Amino acid sequence: MKIINTKYQALDQLFKSRIEGKTIGLIPTMGALHEGHLNLVEKSKYHSDVTVVSIFVNPTQFNNPEDLEKYPRTVEEDLKLLEGKGVDYVFLPEVNEMYPQPAKLKMDFGALETILEGASRPGHFNGVGIVVSKLFHIINPDYAYFGQKDLQQVAIIRQMVNDLSFSVNLVVVPTVREEDGLAMSSRNRRLNITERKKALVLYESMVLAKNELLAGRSWFELKDKIQHKFNQVDGVKLEYFELVETETLNMVANQGIKDFGQEQKYSLCTAAFVGDVRLIDNLPI
Ligand code: PAF
Repeated sequence: MKIINTKYQALDQLFKSRIEGKTIGLIPTMGALHEGHLNLVEKSKYHSDVTVVSIFVNPTQFNNPEDLEKYPRTVEEDLKLLEGKGVDYVFLPEVNEMYPQPAKLKMDFGALETILEGASRPGHFNGVGIVVSKLFHIINPDYAYFGQKDLQQVAIIRQMVNDLSFSVNLVVVPTVREEDGLAMSSRNRRLNITERKKALVLYESMVLAKNELLAGRSWFELKDKIQHKFNQVDGVKLEYFELVETETLNMVANQGIKDFGQEQKYSLCTAAFVGDVRLIDNLPI
């Protein structure tokens, strides 16, 4: 496994693979790797001839400086895990390499960035769009692998790829969960034992809501019930709990949704603070 730190090294190292006609798979990450990331690596190893994992904690997507500072950084451990999975290259740039000057360009994703994560974290998706487009330019992958856990991020990147004609195929991989249902996330490392137990309310609420929606309960009534469930867990603060159309992320406001026939047409999306750790999750219906 080779470690690449600059864009010129990336160009140089990947050149040979490219002229040999090999396909390149990229898994963009911010490190603190877990089973979810390793699952993306496995998908890439299966699909692509060469697998590149990027590890870069991107400052421009954090709207809260404390969140950036506390974001877990475990590079040594990450490299061992990636080596064990047979990854070919790790792109591990410094901030100056990715941002030789502060990015002035702004990406506007329209309605998509005014809801859910976009509403809660102003500027977040601009930062994601900028860094992912830099990674796509630097690595020039044939395939890029993203987890479904970041449903809105996937929609944003899909829009960016279409609007800017990137020639990369996006591969979206279902969320990997702990045995009790908690979605794997780098942020879970920041939860203490008590918070870890409390964090389960996100998944349990989505399962409850899914079952009740399928049984015909109105969304309007259900939202109150879910808020109540969160209120009962001390130290957990619900930020949003929404029902959206999976494709467009348009919120479903009405009470009488009956059309659950089409697979994964809708998704429940939630975000909550557990202590001072902000977690997100979603569940397709
Ligand atoms: O999902 C993440 O870890 C990040 O948002 C990404 C895609 C690596 C961009 O920094």
